[in-house]
Amino acid sequence: MSDQTATAIAHPNIAFIKYWGNRDNELRLPQNGSISMNLGSLHTRTTVTFDDALHADSLTVNGANSGEAATARVSRFLDIIRALANQRNEIHFASVESHNNFPMGAGIASSAAAFAALALAGSAAAGLNLSESELSRLARRGSGSASRSIPGGFCEWLMGEDDETSLAISIAPAAHWPLTDFIAVLSTEHKKVGSSAGHPLAGTSPFQAARTASVPERLLICRNAILKRDFSALAEVSERDSTLMHAVMMTQEPPLFYWEPASLNLIKKVAAWRADGLPCFTTLDAGPNVHVLCPETAADAVESRLRTLPGITDLIRSGPGGPARLEPV
Ligand code: DP6
Repeated sequence: MSDQTATAIAHPNIAFIKYWGNRDNELRLPQNGSISMNLGSLHTRTTVTFDDALHADSLTVNGANSGEAATARVSRFLDIIRALANQRNEIHFASVESHNNFPMGAGIASSAAAFAALALAGSAAAGLNLSESELSRLARRGSGSASRSIPGGFCEWLMGEDDETSLAISIAPAAHWPLTDFIAVLSTEHKKVGSSAGHPLAGTSPFQAARTASVPERLLICRNAILKRDFSALAEVSERDSTLMHAVMMTQEPPLFYWEPASLNLIKKVAAWRADGLPCFTTLDAGPNVHVLCPETAADAVESRLRTLPGITDLIRSGPGGPARLEPV
């Protein structure tokens, strides 16, 4: 077998309606559907090369060798691709080289872009020609939120019933609604407890059942807000959903407190600006950094206010992004 190689690019995404907790941890079947927007200015570019001269899988991120845990997670994911492809030909070990243009592990969903790019580059390198739905299902197995980084623009991950039906679809393309996401980086310290360790314990919070029972209503409001470009409806439902998820996280056993004092300060400031008529809202993933979303037309005003606040070490700006894509050879 000669070298088989492919390179893919995928964007991370920010969820308006959050994924938290699995029905099946192995298959990453979620306890609720979720909705997000891809972030066009941020990307992961990944090259996968299957090579029968290799004796093990290897992973580099931004040029540095990754540790055992990250390499093992990628290796388990490549096993899924090998199992799919071995029906057609012999596939052996792979080298995976990944580059991010954004900081990892601090509330920016680097695993979403990473596994979306890996699903596309890995399956193409293995000679598979998967559809968007098949790629979204595959990416989901690596990281749940990665299922939403396969289609373009504004995406909904349908909870589904099983492995075949739990996948993301695009609700609207990136050009549908020029929103801006400012990621206020408060800490680039790698988070101590990541999402994968947190999901299996969601059910230890008595609030998880109440949260998931009320998700379908919020999904409907969010979907309609996106389709109608209704910013205030999107703002209300997204802030509420983020707080509900963090209430579950904080009441899990053991508890996960991702908010730092600077995060809460920003959450309150942005809510006050909105009450004063500036269209903007906040949402937080599994980390202290705060995503501040606004219409592109309000972005300069929001940015100048954010720049006056203490504790923000970096401000990353992005509009909506397209689907994961292969780089031409
Ligand atoms: C808080 O997709 O990172 O960002 O499947 O274990 O990789 P794994 O978890 P991950 O969880 C994301 C959780 C979240 C909310 C969201 O993006 O929906």
